[in-house]
Amino acid sequence: MSKFLADQRVLTILTCGSVDDGKSTLIGRLLYEQGQIPEDELAGLTNRAEEAIDYSLLLDGLEPEREQGITIDVAYRYFKAADRHFIVADTPGHEQYVRNMITGASNSDLAILLVDARNGLTSQTFRHAHIVSIMGIRHVVLAVNKIDLVNFDERVFQNISTEFRKLAELLSFSDFEMIPVSALLGDNVSTRSSRMTWYEGPTLLQLLAGSEVPEKARTGFRMPVQLIVRSDGGGRGVAGTIASGQIAIGDKIVLLPSGRVTSIKEISSAGRAVGRAEAREAVTLTLSDHVDVARGDVAASPSDQPHVGSQFVAQIVWLGDETLRPGRSYLLKQGTRTVGVSITAIKYRVDVQTMAHEAAKELRTNEIGVCNLITAAPLVFDSYAENAAMGGLIVIDRATNMTVAAGIVLHPLTRSTTIRPPTLFVTKDARAHLKGHRPALLWLTGLSGAGKSTIANATEARLNAMGVHTILLDGDCLRGGINKDLGFTETDRIENIRRAGEVSKLMLDAGLVVLCSFISPFAADRRMVRELMRRDEFIEVFVDTPLETCIERDPKGLYRRAIDGEIKNFTGISQVYERPEHAEVTIRTGELTVDGAVDRLVAELARRGIFDLSGEPGRGHE
Ligand code: ADX
Repeated sequence: MSKFLADQRVLTILTCGSVDDGKSTLIGRLLYEQGQIPEDELAGLTNRAEEAIDYSLLLDGLEPEREQGITIDVAYRYFKAADRHFIVADTPGHEQYVRNMITGASNSDLAILLVDARNGLTSQTFRHAHIVSIMGIRHVVLAVNKIDLVNFDERVFQNISTEFRKLAELLSFSDFEMIPVSALLGDNVSTRSSRMTWYEGPTLLQLLAGSEVPEKARTGFRMPVQLIVRSDGGGRGVAGTIASGQIAIGDKIVLLPSGRVTSIKEISSAGRAVGRAEAREAVTLTLSDHVDVARGDVAASPSDQPHVGSQFVAQIVWLGDETLRPGRSYLLKQGTRTVGVSITAIKYRVDVQTMAHEAAKELRTNEIGVCNLITAAPLVFDSYAENAAMGGLIVIDRATNMTVAAGIVLHPLTRSTTIRPPTLFVTKDARAHLKGHRPALLWLTGLSGAGKSTIANATEARLNAMGVHTILLDGDCLRGGINKDLGFTETDRIENIRRAGEVSKLMLDAGLVVLCSFISPFAADRRMVRELMRRDEFIEVFVDTPLETCIERDPKGLYRRAIDGEIKNFTGISQVYERPEHAEVTIRTGELTVDGAVDRLVAELARRGIFDLSGEPGRGHE
């Protein structure tokens, strides 16, 4: 297989279109006519002798390839024709179609867009063409299928072709062709149709056979590290698939993001020692030095290095069922690395019909936009135009593990390379030591009127009396100052919590015990704050008061106004509150007095060794 894949003439083809357009029939027909379907498989495709072969059934039995943790189904079919190998990436046409298509597209050299001659270009065709363009496929073939159902009419084909030509130019495809075909009857698939003498172009197979494999990378050697292995000689090896360029024994490489330079001692490919290896080969490289290297790092040529940074601009297709809201934290997968990411700003949305840029605050399912992204740790990447394998990414929802976006890096943001955290002389530990206790964060979440502020207030008073250095951050207070530009839409609440989290982090750095009181209704945002902190510092406290009780108490009269429709987006009334599932502490206010709640929280801090209840906290270091 590795030799097969290393054959530079292998053409990987993506097929786009729905089952109704005849996609499976077309691929099935192509494989069948090349004698690539075993006899026994063929026999099962028709029940009655007089019935035509149903080519689409050929593809139904395909095992989807599943990538771990990501629900992506792409079936690859290999075939050989006209002295050449082909791989067809077929993406089953169910509702997750677009998502699957992107995975197929990122590895493909050419795309066949299928349309039904009776319908012409549909909005789905526009969307597919756009995705194909985003993923860097420059060669597109429009197969105008079911031409038999419009009586092989040249005018129908010409009209569709004219429209497609405009689209192809808009999307700057460097090569595009249009072919009238009947997948069912075989016209112009691998044999020339005698029923369309007006068509003088190539058959689909001729076209594929003559197609160039485009060079997908303009960069030098890159290999994302997949695995660290110890070689027999005790040396350290890194295993992975070469994304671009080539490598030979003795070559120098740089390991990124660390920047350590070393050289190649041995190369093994498919279990054999070799002198050199190139793009698409899976190899193990034994390094000359004992350097620190981890999965997710990238080995690259020192003279032509990829970008290292945590901020960049990307064009993405939003696939999530829920709307993309800037500021929320997701996971990003690029190369062999998975890191936390947040989409900080949508620069614009792209109208797929006209390519116009529109101002946008959010992206809905299947919408395309250009956004700024910030990752939690530095990434090693190229722009997609420089190197498709190093510039493609997917975004995964942390809670559901679903792929919610796919995209390509357009360019790095230089601020990510110019901003470096300074090395400080006074550390967090040194600050905490002076205070005589460790820092911690109690994050109180719950409905408005649940009792968060009351409990936070009383807890701070107790801690203060004990000599513990504290700070209380309350939604109502921050919203009067640092967050006074924010309202209560989902997007604004995400930003409210993000800022509260960042401020809390600074306060932890100062060595304080931080008490936060925010409704913080969304689980994803609470998780974002949790992940900002050291694991043992964050204590989520769910102040659990039933909605009916909060409505009854209504301390600020807000519930009444929300129920009357006077206040919009009110938590519990017109916006959701997602109950925490793994809070470290749950306080049921119906069962505990305020003092009881304070006891619980102080005991929790003591249990974690934040301070010593028997000693004298707060005396500090003398
Ligand atoms: S959060 O959802 O973004 O965490 P936060 O805790 O900062 O909210 O602010 C909540 C406070 O804002 C409430 O206690 C209440 O006094 C006030 N408030 C005003 N409008 C709303 C609203 N639509 N939903 C919830 N709280 C509101």
